[in-house]
Amino acid sequence: MVNGWGLSETQWGGYGRFQRVKPEWLTRLPDAFSLEQAMGIGTAGYTASLCVEALVKWGTIAPGGKEVLVTGAAGGVGSVAVALLARAGYPVTASTGRPETHEYLRGLGATGFIDRAALLEKGPPLQKERWAGGVDSVGGLTLVNALSQTVWGGAIAACGLAGSSDLPGTVLPHILRSVTLIGIDSVMAPAGRRTAAWERLARDLDPRTLAAMYEVQPFEALPDLAAKILAGRIRGRVVLKI
Ligand SMILES: NC(=O)c1ccc[n+]([C@@H]2O[C@H](COP(=O)([O-])OP(=O)(O)OC[C@H]3O[C@@H](n4cnc5c(N)ncnc54)[C@H](OP(=O)(O)O)[C@@H]3O)[C@@H](O)[C@H]2O)c1
Repeated sequence: MVNGWGLSETQWGGYGRFQRVKPEWLTRLPDAFSLEQAMGIGTAGYTASLCVEALVKWGTIAPGGKEVLVTGAAGGVGSVAVALLARAGYPVTASTGRPETHEYLRGLGATGFIDRAALLEKGPPLQKERWAGGVDSVGGLTLVNALSQTVWGGAIAACGLAGSSDLPGTVLPHILRSVTLIGIDSVMAPAGRRTAAWERLARDLDPRTLAAMYEVQPFEALPDLAAKILAGRIRGRVVLKI
């Protein structure tokens, strides 16, 4: 299996049935997953797992402890982050702009909800310490507020810019509360991190949960799907049958 390394970005071959790639780019697919399931998880799920790995290593989140925030929770990264954290016993608060996804997210293990609008308002640089850690795929004010609400010594693993690529905040959470912003890039991640992320997915992503996260569509549906994705009307992932 291969994720990132510039495929469909700086390397030709997107949507091809066969592709020639460098052997060191390949990650062994865990026995737990079929090829279809692996693509249902996709780069989004693998990135979510990289974020969870980083947070767990950071050490301030604890099973049964303080809440862990997941932003963009109903999206591809968010859904898998919720499921992985919940399965490992961390209490997850999901931030979403779509209340109709609450039941789906509760099914993945979220126990708390925060409207995404609440994290989009500019607040003071240091706010009430609420999150032991977090996974952010939204960026912008959402990430700034998440950092401002993180406990002393905690960390937010940030991987996305679904809302904005800006970071309109202050250094105060970092210099007065030792809060850390962990950057996550899946594309150039070295082999060891990839393997650890896929092992976590194989261990903690329940197959029934995974089945609820993606749908399979024919290749011909791609133009319609693209419009729906841009309009925010797709929940989770779509696997294309080539
Ligand atoms: N660093 C990496 O290696 C890496 C890898 C994969 C993805 N990414 C990035 O991570 C982000 C998420 O990817 P994805 O595949 O999960 O995308 P996705 O399925 O489209 O989900 C993004 C979610 O973000 C929320 N959102 C969208 N627009 C927003 C806005 N204006 N303000 C606040 N929230 C908003 C929505 O969540 P709700 O519907 O729940 O509100 C949406 O479902 C993208 O920016 C992507 O480029 C980075």
